[in-house]
Amino acid sequence: MDKLIVAGGARLTGEVAISGAKNAALPILCASLLTSEPLTLTNVPALNDIDTMLRLLAQMGVRVERAGDRVTLDAGALDNPLAPYELVKTMRASILVLGPLVARAGEARVSLPGGCAIGARPVDQHIKGLQSMGAEVHVEHGYVVARATRLKGARLFTDMVTVTGTENLMMAACLADGETVIENAAREPEVVDLAQCLTAMGARISGAGTDVIRVRGVERLHGGEHRVMPDRIETGTFLCAAAITGGDVRLTGTSTGYLDAVVDKLMDAGCELIGEKTARSESIHIIAPPRLRAVSIRTAPYPAFPTDMQAQFMAINAVAEGTAVIRETIFENRFMHAVELQRLGADIKIDGNTAVQTGVAKLQGATVMATDLRASASLVVAGLVAEGETHIERIYHLDRGYEHIESKLTALGASIRREHA
Ligand code: UD1
Repeated sequence: MDKLIVAGGARLTGEVAISGAKNAALPILCASLLTSEPLTLTNVPALNDIDTMLRLLAQMGVRVERAGDRVTLDAGALDNPLAPYELVKTMRASILVLGPLVARAGEARVSLPGGCAIGARPVDQHIKGLQSMGAEVHVEHGYVVARATRLKGARLFTDMVTVTGTENLMMAACLADGETVIENAAREPEVVDLAQCLTAMGARISGAGTDVIRVRGVERLHGGEHRVMPDRIETGTFLCAAAITGGDVRLTGTSTGYLDAVVDKLMDAGCELIGEKTARSESIHIIAPPRLRAVSIRTAPYPAFPTDMQAQFMAINAVAEGTAVIRETIFENRFMHAVELQRLGADIKIDGNTAVQTGVAKLQGATVMATDLRASASLVVAGLVAEGETHIERIYHLDRGYEHIESKLTALGASIRREHA
């Protein structure tokens, strides 16, 4: 298994291009199932999760053409509405095929995602929503089996704010008979990006980005073209990498617009952040002080602080001045990186969903284990300032969600290399 070796101490400077958003690209790839015409996407990141989703779609009969960051999908010959366990177990977002398949093919068999390192993460809300729209859904031999002749518009209310749940139901509603109202909808920018793509395909959606989304079903959607939004979590991760090293970095192809809560906290920590906009592009310039101030955070659905940035902030707080409290309210088991950061010398006390940490003057390199995608990112961020070498094992998690992370960091002056086992 590959590992990353980071030698701490370099101050990051220069420019880095941010890739397209994994969490926007995944649902948008699934939107291709809703039409028999080709859908062309650009700014699709080269990530393992994207490869998995394309394999999943291909085995359903979707024709996939990929050149660089451009992907064309043609579901004209969709003939196998099945998402097998072998693919779903590696990527929970596979559940996003469920809504589009029932809506267009009238049936779907999607493996239950199963346990996940960061919590139980059930899909009951996805199922409940489809049932309210008239689908017959049951669980059989570990598979969600759903059938419907044509879904019917309905008033849907999810018990909690769920991002992929909102996306699944919004996609399904596009081809339903009548109007669907999704209440308590997720407001994440990725939901808005998906709605924009669906609208370009002929869907009639209003309210995306608010907590009430209305979809007026149409008979059919057509093909279209869409550019995937920038990855706000990759953006935030590079901002943290720059911040922890006291760096001066410009992130291109991204904007502060998607990141208010993260930008606010980095400014509280003492960084200067400047959003720059020209007619052709947007970028963010961050200038960090030699030592950051520790900042307290509480994760919650958008527009509050994202759970996907919690681990990276735990890394920067580890060497910041003062004490901070981190509260994780989305996932019940998302502090596994804390134990690994402690191996580097961080002072962190965990009590349930709360972590209290006091910054130390120095971290020390050690061998650590990546446990999930964003936990891996936090170990890389911490490794950038740890004395000596930090060996990060099990980095396949990182390859699921960060495009060319080591070459991007190297270009900014970091000392980081991959070792193939
Ligand atoms: C998405 C993101 C993930 C991010 C998360 C929260 C994608 C592909 N992934 O994951 O990176 O960390 O949002 O911002 O976009 N829940 C249920 N039942 C359900 C659905 C969700 O109990 O049917 C619970 C989950 O266990 C969790 C909470 O609701 O505690 C939020 O989960 P959700 O927003 O659905 O996360 P994902 O969409 O899987």
